[in-house]
Amino acid sequence: MVNEDFLNAGLAQTTLHPLNLRVSRALGSILTLDDGTEIIDFVSGIGVSSFGHGHPSIVSALKNQIDKHLHVMVYGEMRQEAQDKAAEALCSMLPDTLNAVYYVNSGAEAIDGALKLARSMTGRPKIMAVQGGYHGNTFGALSVSSNESRRAPFEPLLPGVQFMNWNDTEALSCIDKTHAAVIVETVQGDAGIRIPSKDWLQSLRYKCDEQGVFLILDEIQCGMGRTGRPFAFEHFDIVPDILCLGKALGGGVPMGAFVSSKQNMRQFADSPELSHITTFGGHPLPCASSSAALEILKKLDHDTIEARAKVFEDEISTHPLVQEVRRIGTYIAVELKHVEAVSFCVHHALSNGLLIYFFLSTPSAFRVAPPLTMTESTWRQATKILVQTLDAYEAGS
Ligand SMILES: Cc1ncc(COP(=O)(O)O)c(C=O)c1O
Repeated sequence: MVNEDFLNAGLAQTTLHPLNLRVSRALGSILTLDDGTEIIDFVSGIGVSSFGHGHPSIVSALKNQIDKHLHVMVYGEMRQEAQDKAAEALCSMLPDTLNAVYYVNSGAEAIDGALKLARSMTGRPKIMAVQGGYHGNTFGALSVSSNESRRAPFEPLLPGVQFMNWNDTEALSCIDKTHAAVIVETVQGDAGIRIPSKDWLQSLRYKCDEQGVFLILDEIQCGMGRTGRPFAFEHFDIVPDILCLGKALGGGVPMGAFVSSKQNMRQFADSPELSHITTFGGHPLPCASSSAALEILKKLDHDTIEARAKVFEDEISTHPLVQEVRRIGTYIAVELKHVEAVSFCVHHALSNGLLIYFFLSTPSAFRVAPPLTMTESTWRQATKILVQTLDAYEAGS
């Protein structure tokens, strides 16, 4: 059914089939609709509300900052305590070579900034991306994303971008000294949670070092605790030259960042001066909120979260409708045996109080990415609704 509710209210729409839920409150793992209906949020706004909705320490950090000041000047001109603290908190959790943060407003902007930094540092024209990669919707981010039908209407995109196979060691031979950067998600999200082999990522790191190519890891969705470690690259014992973050980094407030070494980041200040600038990047509100979010991330009990996710996986993966569950931490794709069952499940679960959601490019699976703070009883309730939903499809088909 076509729904033009947004357009009729003077708002642009992204689809003519929106879920169109009217949310009045969100607290912890629960969304409350205008009519009082409560829904378990099993997707965290696509990996944004990873520390739960309305977390008291994030709300309090935001309120404190509002009382001090809002925007004062474009990024990089005035020292602001909120920025210093956020960068210090983030860098303290990263390897020593990732010690300078450039704050922007979104994930796609972080990707664009990272690509510019690699081009500017190396003076090389080409960028290598991977099949199945998703990096956002600005021209730069879209150019390194592989979904052909999403790219086609906007071509020509950025020149010099090539795509190699994901998780294919032989494909690495196409990386050479003409490439400024290789960009990959550490764990692919939109491709339906594709977890690479450690061997492949380590070979990729080696190849980039050998050819003097920047390795850009996109952890906009898979970072910030989603995979069971603070950052996904920690599973693979590699360190990127540039790390892109977003989504949960802002604790529910818009924020993106790319992180590299001080030496690399100096490039934007003097080659030429002001070569990458942004009005709102590093705004004190997301910075304050991010500091609080990082504090929560540091204290997460990953073992307990893993145990809950494992119980979920064991229960769901044995269902006759389920082809496969791909999971690392709470970054989860449930692949079904029938593509048409996905839409049924999303809508059936929703009408029974559980929000699961589609992937853009993987029609045979739905995503699950609960708040990392979800209680055991809510996990259990969500799993129960999901099993009932899968059963309902089987009963009707
Ligand atoms: C892996 C990845 N990279 C980049 C982006 C783009 O982030 P944003 O939508 O904040 O521009 C997303 C968004 O879903 C993403 O999942």
